[in-house]
Amino acid sequence: MRSILVTGGAGFIGSNFVRMVLSEETDCLVVNLDKLTYAGNLENLAEFVSYDNHRFVHGDICDGPLVERLIDEYRVDAIVNFAAESHVDRSITGPKVFIETNVAGTLTLLEAARDKHIGRFIQVSTDEVYGALGPEGKFTEKTPLSPNSPYSASKASADHLVCAFGHTWGVPYNITRCSNNYGPYQFPEKLIPLMINNALQDRDLPVYGDGLYVRDWLYVYDHCTAVWRVLEQAPAGEIYNIGGCNEKANLEVIKLILARLGKPETLVRYVKDRPGHDRRYAIDASKIMDELGWKPSVTFEEGLARTIDWYLGNTKWLANVVSGDYQKYYETMYGSR
Ligand code: NAD
Ligand code: TYD
Repeated sequence: MRSILVTGGAGFIGSNFVRMVLSEETDCLVVNLDKLTYAGNLENLAEFVSYDNHRFVHGDICDGPLVERLIDEYRVDAIVNFAAESHVDRSITGPKVFIETNVAGTLTLLEAARDKHIGRFIQVSTDEVYGALGPEGKFTEKTPLSPNSPYSASKASADHLVCAFGHTWGVPYNITRCSNNYGPYQFPEKLIPLMINNALQDRDLPVYGDGLYVRDWLYVYDHCTAVWRVLEQAPAGEIYNIGGCNEKANLEVIKLILARLGKPETLVRYVKDRPGHDRRYAIDASKIMDELGWKPSVTFEEGLARTIDWYLGNTKWLANVVSGDYQKYYETMYGSR
């Protein structure tokens, strides 16, 4: 049986990945290391927490001795690093923890991977490391890194460290750089779940700036199949962009959400823009499609419909995650906008 260490497996994408692997791969032990920050939630794993092939470990990727012990104890042969501070707005109000987890945490995992001769290190990165695009063109794997936010700067630093460990010590790695994910279990600080949650409560929908910022949306399950394919098939040292070929302006996405929920467009409220807001992201994913045969399984319209239906069917999950600290966060982030 193969044994993989998944970090951040109680977060949005990590939990979707763990669910997919446990459901679809019978011959894989998943050791899931997660610090359970505000973004980590064991409810995301529900019945999967106690699966035979799953070991959940509450801990920090910055804890080197713990990481090494897990590698030894479970004979880990690959690490898939999802753990991160992941929200741009939070990186603007408090960048330090982004350096601690995204940079120092990745360094700790790389040192363990090197010293324990791990077979493959997968770094889950982001298209935001490439910076922002104008109206034309797409990011390819050859686009120079030019991050603009503290979040993307921390992810770019981590990518450079991964390459440096490959170059210097031969750590066998891949880096995946995906566009904006959406789907079940996403914490309602990011655009799509925040707008769904607000619309369900007939609250204003806070649109930054002119609302014409463009993101390239990727359904989370499709991201997970891409990461798995890289783990299974990619030659070491290769970097892959992952995108859903779904460029949309924020306002267009918001209007689709309102239409499906039967809510009026008068809920839209234009608010103060995010400082340094990247205008447009768009991914050229032809490398992973041509070389590994991956492709997304849903269109944006299908994926969005599934996502909204999931939130409608999981109101208890939503109520739990927006109780407590979330209200304080919302007030701080949006109260004065
Ligand atoms: P998330 O914020 O939902 O989850 C992050 C998880 O990491 C949480 O479970 C949290 O508890 C855990 N974590 C945080 N710090 C940790 C630490 N020090 N040690 C152990 N666990 C820790 O994030 P997400 O949206 O699922 O993103 C997962 C990865 O994908 C991140 O690396 C992110 O940069 C990348 N990514 C996300 C998107 C997106 O649209 N969400 C797009 C591109 C790339
Ligand atoms: P977000 O989900 O934070 O992802 P990222 O900034 O990493 O791309 O934001 C997606 C887009 O939506 C981005 O252009 C900012 C915008 N946005 C709003 O207009 N209002 C909001 O309340 C949020 C959270 C985002």
